[in-house]
Amino acid sequence: MKIEYFGHSAFQITSEEGMKILIDPFISGNPVCTTAVETMNPDVILVTHGHVDHFGDALEIANNSGATVIATHEIATFVQKQGLNAIGMNIGGTVSINELVSVTMTDARHSSGMDFLEDMEEGGVATGFVVTLESGKKIYHAGDTGLFGDMKMVIGDIYQPDISLLPIGDKFTMGIEDAAIAASWLQSRIVIPMHYNTFEAIEQDANLFAKFVEDESIGTFTVILQPGEEYEEE
Ligand code: NI
Ligand code: MN
Repeated sequence: MKIEYFGHSAFQITSEEGMKILIDPFISGNPVCTTAVETMNPDVILVTHGHVDHFGDALEIANNSGATVIATHEIATFVQKQGLNAIGMNIGGTVSINELVSVTMTDARHSSGMDFLEDMEEGGVATGFVVTLESGKKIYHAGDTGLFGDMKMVIGDIYQPDISLLPIGDKFTMGIEDAAIAASWLQSRIVIPMHYNTFEAIEQDANLFAKFVEDESIGTFTVILQPGEEYEEE
């Protein structure tokens, strides 16, 4: 399986059997993204919340690829109204993509208005996702969020993700200190920082985050990806 990073919070997971799961596809408006929207061909698109730096090019990519969008009931209803396929769900629920790959929606502490619409419509609550692959491997994308206790009690202790993608940019989400605490609670093998260095307002030192993780966690390794890079494992 591999995880490609497009900058900001945009990732594509390719499962062991080749299923492509695109998350928060902020591509064309993303100043650090080097990938063209036209080249993207996912099977499903997960959107964590309604903000434009996460919803991004979801409609265009869904239209081009035929991919189904998975998001809150509110965002999914909006996507369906545009004539595209979407599955609405909510926190705590799990949706099967096929017999072996599933997506669980998690809590996040953030807002979710669809700010790209002229009259900002409600996108429901902000969320994260735990993606379970064919091998049973679990990848947690935290979305935009502050630190919250259920990262330990629910996501860490119950879901036990192998790999966690965590925002570190501060201002709109956790900064590096809280994100390092989140990493210690989640106890994933790998953490990958996201939502930083896209804009001046969220400039952060990912190496300092990695050092905090090393200080606070045992058995967790930080993988820092640049936009366009990928992380791969068996
Ligand atoms: Ni946001
Ligand atoms: Mn954001």
